[in-house]
Amino acid sequence: MKAAVLYFSKGGHTKKMAEAVAEGMRMVAGVQAEIFPLDSIDAEFLKESKAVVFGTPTYYANTCWQVKKWFDESWETDLSGKLGGAFATADYAQGGADVALQTVLSHLLVKGMLVYSGGSALGQPYIHLGPVCSKETFEQSRPLYVTFGERIAQKAQELFAKQKS
Ligand SMILES: Cc1cc2nc3c(=O)[nH]c(=O)nc-3n(C[C@H](O)[C@H](O)[C@H](O)COP(=O)(O)O)c2cc1C
Repeated sequence: MKAAVLYFSKGGHTKKMAEAVAEGMRMVAGVQAEIFPLDSIDAEFLKESKAVVFGTPTYYANTCWQVKKWFDESWETDLSGKLGGAFATADYAQGGADVALQTVLSHLLVKGMLVYSGGSALGQPYIHLGPVCSKETFEQSRPLYVTFGERIAQKAQELFAKQKS
């Protein structure tokens, strides 16, 4: 089963987080996960992916304009029925990353995706809307981003493992 992590990253933090999320996805047997910057997506891989997770930096307490632009222009990209999730980076814990996450999750709903984070249902570590990385805590929180990827891939396996890609 394929899983894709799509992200925008100018300074590299969101890319590092994308790599950690993909690492977690690959911990689930049978999952092939790849990361793609938004301007360099393998369309065939994306089409075959059962889970698609988006990573965004926080810009002015919301998603960055590059991610918003991608959604505004990607109406021909069919993600319907796929499992979706989101993660965000920010400089500060109080910098508005939850709003950035909610904006991305809203786009996933508009796309007809099945939106998932694991929520509190899976216990500790709690991941409600999606994981957030602030610059002070990246390394210590890295296991959380791996866990998020693993949870997304596990749910996708539960939902889709018996289907052909
Ligand atoms: C235009 C701009 C606006 C930003 N606004 C916020 C903000 O509102 N809150 C915050 O915590 N960080 C803010 N940041 C910091 C970025 O979210 C943070 O550095 C992020 O990790 C950058 O991701 P990247 O390294 O993948 O590009 C802003 C950065 C830029 C360039």
